Amino acid sequence: MALKSINPTKTKAWKKLEEHFHEIKNVHMTQWFEEDSNRAIRFTIKWDDFFVDYSKNRITKSTIDLFLELAEEMELKKAISSYFSGDKINQTEKRAVLHTALRAPIDSQVYVDGENIIPKIYSAKKKMETFTNDVVNGVLKGFTGKQFTDIVNIGIGGSDLGPAMVVDALSFYKNHLITHFVSNIDGDHVNEILKKLNPETTLFVIVSKTFTTQETLSNANTIRQWFLQSGDKEAISKHFVAVSTNIKKAKEFGVEQENIFPMWDWVGGRFSLWSTVGLSISLSVGYSNFENLLLGAHNMDEHFKNEPFQSNIPVILAFLSIWYNNFFKAESEAIIPYTQYLNQFATYFQQAIMESNGKTVMRNGDKVNYQTGNIIWGEPGTNSQHAFFQLLHQGTKLIPADFIGFKESLYGNLDHQDKLISNFIAQTKALLNGKTKEEVENELINSKLPKDAQKTLTPFKVFEGNKPTTTFFIRKLTPENLGKLIAMYEHKIFVQGVIWNINSYDQFGVELGKQLATSVLEEFNSIKINNHDSSTKNLINYYKNRAK
Ligand code: F6P
Repeated sequence: MALKSINPTKTKAWKKLEEHFHEIKNVHMTQWFEEDSNRAIRFTIKWDDFFVDYSKNRITKSTIDLFLELAEEMELKKAISSYFSGDKINQTEKRAVLHTALRAPIDSQVYVDGENIIPKIYSAKKKMETFTNDVVNGVLKGFTGKQFTDIVNIGIGGSDLGPAMVVDALSFYKNHLITHFVSNIDGDHVNEILKKLNPETTLFVIVSKTFTTQETLSNANTIRQWFLQSGDKEAISKHFVAVSTNIKKAKEFGVEQENIFPMWDWVGGRFSLWSTVGLSISLSVGYSNFENLLLGAHNMDEHFKNEPFQSNIPVILAFLSIWYNNFFKAESEAIIPYTQYLNQFATYFQQAIMESNGKTVMRNGDKVNYQTGNIIWGEPGTNSQHAFFQLLHQGTKLIPADFIGFKESLYGNLDHQDKLISNFIAQTKALLNGKTKEEVENELINSKLPKDAQKTLTPFKVFEGNKPTTTFFIRKLTPENLGKLIAMYEHKIFVQGVIWNINSYDQFGVELGKQLATSVLEEFNSIKINNHDSSTKNLINYYKNRAK
């Protein structure tokens, strides 16, 4: 059953939120902290290893209450149940959205078209486990009898970003295998990777849900040609495996049937790292760590499914995001992890969030008359403090930011950890409080500057503050906690999609560019010129004349 189409702006709660917004939009959060000594506790959710403090947001209790009313009118509860039970909520593609089933326990029952899909998920997992162990332990060997030393994931989008982000995030848990990722159609990317590889000891994992993606197939073909300079056709079966729903195409490429790991159309590419698409994760950190990642995600699924909305982490996060996006008209959101391990986290969520919720039509096909999808960006702190934080603190744009930090460091270097976490906490305080004119003046009095220079400098040193942040303080970066964190954002995406009344699970917006690239490519080698605007025509001609 598809989700019901309801225009959120026509609900009673939306109207009330608009009125409420006008009442509180200019209030400085520091006022609320002064008035209510319980504010931090009131707006903190403690769950498992997570401590989520959202008190430094431009909200009051009424804001949350009104969002709870909105969730009720938008039938969020019913939508969550449809999502988990395999209803075809991706209505345009007539597909269920079941990445949650990939991390469900073995005794669960989730039905798609009358079939319980849990047994086939577990059979694919068993195949992954056996294969992982055999590669890691050196049972499987390359064509000259040597053990594998390197893994290359060949994929793009969801078939690259998730595995790449997780392998990087869990480098502390990594085994001896060196993992590489080839994604870009840019031939220099694949050549740079090939430079580092020995064909005798490299295993290639071709990941493509459709097995039709130009980038992945071109890279896989280039790599195969390179490989055939050393090994013969038979050797390919020892060195190339595939993850795909398209068994026929994978076999046509030359991958042996037994080396194809299944995937299903009810797993969206950008939510697929939990499936066999996670093979390079499992190979890199071992199967039990991969299982722990899934377990963490499952725990977050249970929290999301069962927790009342007022203490439900993904639900609250979605409310905050809609509050800033639709009422404060914020243009973007930042994700700032205070760990270098999450270097690729924001990049990963750029696809998950922007490909999901970058939509302009409601579920009934009508154009939206309100803003949807957030622009996501971010880099780890403290590096980002020395890069773009100036704009967060003193720029004209309102940028709500998620601060993600871990109480324990993995190598236990307390000196560094104390400094890291002091920055993590101090930045959210600075963004909240800012620095008033009086504070700046008092500071300058103690400087050696002459009085008139002090006066000139004062406005430049004022910080308005009142910049919203949400702090995620997590015990430790373990595979399980990473699983929870990723699943948390996945469910936030879902809730936003429900409230914005859009289909978060199709991605037609990526098609047009792909189609046009195919026809432009044909023109490079033909005298026939298609009908183009003058700019596109000039660019094509400029490139066609490259040899001259
Ligand atoms: O760019 C669009 C997209 O379809 C993504 O949604 C997907 O993750 C990526 O391409 C890769 O697709 P495939 O796994 O089929 O190669």
